[in-house]
Amino acid sequence: MNELDQLVQAAQADFEQAAAPADLENAKARYLGKSGRVTELLKGMAALSPEEKKARGAAINEAKQRVEAALNARRQALADAELQAQLKAEALDVTLPGRRRGTGGLHPVSRTMERIEAIFGSMGFDVADGPEIETDWFNFTALNTPADHPARSMHDTFYVEGGHLLRTHTSPMQVRYAVQHVKQHRAALEMGEAIPEIRVIAPGRTYRVDSDATHSPMFHQCEGLWIGENVSFKDLKSVFADFFRNFFESDDLQIRFRPSFFPFTEPSAEVDIAFSSGPLKGRWLEVAGSGQVHPNVVRNFGLDPERYIGFAFGMGPDRLTMLRYGVNDLRLFFDGDLRFLSQFK
Ligand code: PHE
Repeated sequence: MNELDQLVQAAQADFEQAAAPADLENAKARYLGKSGRVTELLKGMAALSPEEKKARGAAINEAKQRVEAALNARRQALADAELQAQLKAEALDVTLPGRRRGTGGLHPVSRTMERIEAIFGSMGFDVADGPEIETDWFNFTALNTPADHPARSMHDTFYVEGGHLLRTHTSPMQVRYAVQHVKQHRAALEMGEAIPEIRVIAPGRTYRVDSDATHSPMFHQCEGLWIGENVSFKDLKSVFADFFRNFFESDDLQIRFRPSFFPFTEPSAEVDIAFSSGPLKGRWLEVAGSGQVHPNVVRNFGLDPERYIGFAFGMGPDRLTMLRYGVNDLRLFFDGDLRFLSQFK
């Protein structure tokens, strides 16, 4: 192999070694640059005779072309490799499923509340809202439960500063709403005219010192009140029948009134329901307290108990939610665990 072939081979090897375009340009300078090896050879021809120049020049030029060809081939190869790497890095896998943004949902108890409001709304009931921090008067005394009444010990009350308490039931809303209603129709009342019926539900949070799988210190109740000149237990029964059949979307449902006691109703009844099919078939489940509003309470509404009569009830939306969705631990509703809550979305 002659000296020119060796040169070409050395250049090819050098170019091949260049891993990046900058390396390749450095290698190029060593052969084709101002003082590169090929350039030096061409300079070295100055001393040759014209014939020698011709032959030598042709040989060197041919070698130079081979070096340039090797250089261009390597340039192309590096550019191709870079393009490939870039394409690979920017590759989009269009078959990957997209990332979803999690959507929120209503709490199961809120769903029940909305359902209760919609069903009672369709029966002509207003929806009222009131304070969770109550006075003794609204929570107990106005509801025929004076300070020394033994029924007060049925409620394990959270007392707060200033003689206030966290309402132990939604029943104070009976008084608040009725008093407001009476105020609104005072003129008619004073004239001895009939006033519109009171028909209201009051859903909301209630509090008692109590905590286990079926009791939480904060729980929900929904109060109901229907007062007029001719409202009877019969109406209470039909309201409950309508409500529960609607709520559970089932006609296979029995309702039972069981005698009970509440200071603010007389007579009083506990309301039980039983399904005729499904996993709870045949079991009586307590779902509400109810009764005919006590004359003392009607008087505290500002109405004449000889003329106005009606019923009240209080039911447990938490309990209804557990029954509707088959949840067996009340605490799940208030733990805030998304694995539980997201099942209701
Ligand atoms: N307030 C009663 C309770 O908390 C329920 C009830 C409401 C009973 C209205 C009768 C009438 O248990």
